[in-house]
Amino acid sequence: MRTAVAETPVIVAIDGPSGTGKSSTSKAVADRLGLAFLDTGAQYRAMTWWMLANGVDTGDPAAVAAAAAKPVIVSGTDPLAPTITVDGTDVAGPIREEAVTSAVSAVSAVPEVRTRITGLQRTIAAEAGAGIVVEGRDIGTTVLPDADVKIFLTASAEARAARRSAELTGAAAADVAATREALVRRDTADSARKTSPLAKAADAVEVDTTHLTLEQVIERVVGLVNEKRHDR
Ligand code: DC
Repeated sequence: MRTAVAETPVIVAIDGPSGTGKSSTSKAVADRLGLAFLDTGAQYRAMTWWMLANGVDTGDPAAVAAAAAKPVIVSGTDPLAPTITVDGTDVAGPIREEAVTSAVSAVSAVPEVRTRITGLQRTIAAEAGAGIVVEGRDIGTTVLPDADVKIFLTASAEARAARRSAELTGAAAADVAATREALVRRDTADSARKTSPLAKAADAVEVDTTHLTLEQVIERVVGLVNEKRHDR
């Protein structure tokens, strides 16, 4: 369903740690409001996938920095069918594998990687005609500090681990405690890094999703975007 008030481009930044419902919320909000959608985590995952595929030691920041300009990462921004390719290869599946998930925090902490990917993100946002929903960790603080609406999603570690487990299959799904531990480890690394860490912007609206359904979160965010559009 699309709303009637879609004339001025609107930029929506949705940040927060893993498992807060960022992706599902962002895609649904973009679809309902007729906006593009960008999953910035997928871009960092694509960069990490390329490093692993090309034998770059992801634990060596200098080696990662030296290679950061090489991969050609292209994101398709249709919220109903987002795509991601690296050097023309569809990597939507491989970027969700464990090897990438374990290495992505280290790769995304390298300043040269962030500069490169932040540049891609700003270009995509500037070219999105009707506007865009951009989800990530540093969108409201660093990438698009002038975004019209900034949302910071949170949830308890237990709720986040339960949601992430539900997305996994087999033995990995059964081990909620291990999922929780891995999530907390990644969030700590993402929040502690020097260059544009996971952080809530001062002017972001925080939404705790622990006790909310996905539909309730979507409605809240759509409501905030529509309020903003009517105000300006
Ligand atoms: O959202 P995700 O779990 O797919 O993100 C993967 C990693 O990418 C996450 O651990 C941190 C990094 N990331 C980032 O540093 N900045 C962003 N804007 C988005 C993701």
